[in-house]
Amino acid sequence: MGIIVWWKESVVYQIYPSSFKDADGDGYGDLQGVYEKLDYLEKLGVDVIWLCPIYDSPGHDNGYDIRDYYAILRKYGTMEDFDRLLAEAHRRGLKVMMDLVLNHTSDEHAWFAESRSSKTNAKRDYYIWRSGKNGQVPNNWESYFGGSVWKHDPETNEYYLHLYSEHQPDLNWNNPEMAEEMYKMVHWWLEKGVDGFRFDAVAHIAKADGLPNAHNPNNLPVVQAYELFSNLEQVHTILRKLNNMILKPYGPMTVGETSGLGPEQALAYVGTDRDELNMVFQFEHMFIDARSSGIGKWNYKPWKLTELKEIMSRWQTVLHGRGWNANYMGNHDQPRPVSRFGDDGKYRARSAQLLATWMFTLEGTPYIYQGEEIGMTNVAFPDIEQYRDIETKNYYNHYIGQGKSKHEVMEAIWRKSRDNARTPMQWDDSEHAGFTTGEPWMEVNGNYTGINVAEAESDPQSILNYYRKLITLRKQNHVLIYGAYELFLPDHPEIYAYTRTLEDEQWLIVMNFSANEPEMAWPEGWNAAEAKCMMCNVSRRYSTDEGAILLQPYEARVYRKQGVSGE
Ligand code: GLC
Repeated sequence: MGIIVWWKESVVYQIYPSSFKDADGDGYGDLQGVYEKLDYLEKLGVDVIWLCPIYDSPGHDNGYDIRDYYAILRKYGTMEDFDRLLAEAHRRGLKVMMDLVLNHTSDEHAWFAESRSSKTNAKRDYYIWRSGKNGQVPNNWESYFGGSVWKHDPETNEYYLHLYSEHQPDLNWNNPEMAEEMYKMVHWWLEKGVDGFRFDAVAHIAKADGLPNAHNPNNLPVVQAYELFSNLEQVHTILRKLNNMILKPYGPMTVGETSGLGPEQALAYVGTDRDELNMVFQFEHMFIDARSSGIGKWNYKPWKLTELKEIMSRWQTVLHGRGWNANYMGNHDQPRPVSRFGDDGKYRARSAQLLATWMFTLEGTPYIYQGEEIGMTNVAFPDIEQYRDIETKNYYNHYIGQGKSKHEVMEAIWRKSRDNARTPMQWDDSEHAGFTTGEPWMEVNGNYTGINVAEAESDPQSILNYYRKLITLRKQNHVLIYGAYELFLPDHPEIYAYTRTLEDEQWLIVMNFSANEPEMAWPEGWNAAEAKCMMCNVSRRYSTDEGAILLQPYEARVYRKQGVSGE
C-alpha cells in the first residue's frame, strides 16, 4: 500500500516541552529529554512530533510569548541541541513540526521595546496602538484571559492591544515590514529543515477595520467580541501569500488553530482549491461542556453524546473530498480526554482505549497529546499556588475578587484548567514519575505510581499497547484514512457507531460511551457471520452477538466486512 499524501497518513504526537522529559535535572523538560525519548515515540508508531513553542521567551504563557523567534529557550537547550534532535528524528524517519505564534510576540521582544519607546519609532506600527476614549480603553473587547484587551502604556500614554495576556501584544499584520519579517522567519525555519507548522491563534491575526465596539446590550465594561477578530477575510489573504511565497516549495504540513468556525467556513482555510493550510483545529467539540465558547469555558454544563456525534459527523461529511480534518480530543489547552469524555475511575483503561479507537478511525490526521497514550487524567490540586497557568490564575483572581467561594472557583479549575494537561509526563513510579531528578516546575499528578509508561509497557492489555495496535491498523488500511464516513443511530445517547467505506471495502466502528450495557442491531448489510473483529478493547465476548451487538461498559469494536476484496 503506497503513500498517497503523507500528512494525511501521518499520526502526530504533540509534545509540551516543559513537561515531557527533563534530562538535566533543572525541573523543566528539555530538548535533550525529547531526544532521549525518540525510541519511545518511534515504537509508538507516530510519524510527526509537534513541539509546542521552544523559542526564547520570558514564559508568561509558557512559550506562547516569544521573545526571539531565532533562538531556543535556555532551559530547553541550545540551537545545537535542536539541530541534533532534528537530525536524529529525520534519521529515524520522524518529522518535526514547529508551533509558531504569528498573532503576537512577548512584550520583551526587541520589536516591542522599540515600538513602545515613542509614537514616531519606525516599529511603532508593528503593534496595535490607540489612544484612550475619554480616559477609557479604546473599545470594549474582552481578552481571552479575562479583562480588557487593552493595556495602557505610560511611556507614550497610549494603549496596546492584546487578545491574550498583557505580556502578549498583538502584531499588526497591516504593517508590510512586520509581515516581511515574519515571512523571512518562517523561511529560515524551513531552510533549517523543519517539516511543518502549527500556526497558533492564526484565526485572529486580522482585526475588524476601525476596531469597533462589540454589541453590548447590558453595557458591560468588556464583552466577547470574537466575530470582530476571528476568521476575517484578511487572514486568508495573508495565509495564501505565506503559502505561495514561502511554504509551497518546501511542502510542509500545516495546521492552523482556528476557533469559532464550522466546517463550511473551515473550507476557506483547507479547501483543496484554497491554497492556504492543510488542516485546522476546530473547537466545536471542545465547548460542548460549556455554557458558551471562549472565556465561557469555565461555566460547566454536562455534555451529551448526541451533540458530540452531530458535531463530529458534520465535520466528517462536509470536509470529505473537499478538505481534510485534524482530529484531536485533547491538547495542552484542554482537560484530559479520559476525565472529560471517558471515565477516569473504574473504566479508565477501557474508556481511554475507546477514545483512541474513535480518534484513529475518523477521517483526518489524528493528533495524540502526550500522556493520552497512557490514559493520564485531570489533576485536582487543592491550592491555587500549585497551579502555573496564567489563564487559570487570572480566572481565579477575577472570580475570588467578585466574591465567588474558593470551593466553587477551584471546582471549575479542577474541571477545566489547562494545567490538567500540563502536569509532567508519567514515565515510571519513581520520585516525580521519572520526569526529573530535580524539583519539577509543576507537581506531578499524584496518581503516577499506578499510571505510568513503565507500567503500561509491562501489560500487554495496556492503553499504550492498544494505541500501538491501532496506529498499525490505521496505517495498514487505507479505508480508515480515506474512507467515507456514515453515522448510525444519531439519537442514541450512549452508542456512537459509523462505517467507513472505500471502494468495495467497508468497516464498522461501534463504541459505547457509557457504563451501561446497551445493544445495537446490526446495521443494514452487516451480520455477525460476516463481521470480522479487527480491534476490540474487551476480551470477553457475549455469545449472543448474532442478533445484535451487545456492548459492555465503554466497549469499542472495529469490524471489517468479510468476503470483500483485500481478504
Ligand atoms: C493558543 C495556544 C495557547 C496560548 C494562546 C496564546 O491558543 O494553544 O496555549 O495560550 O494560543 O498564544
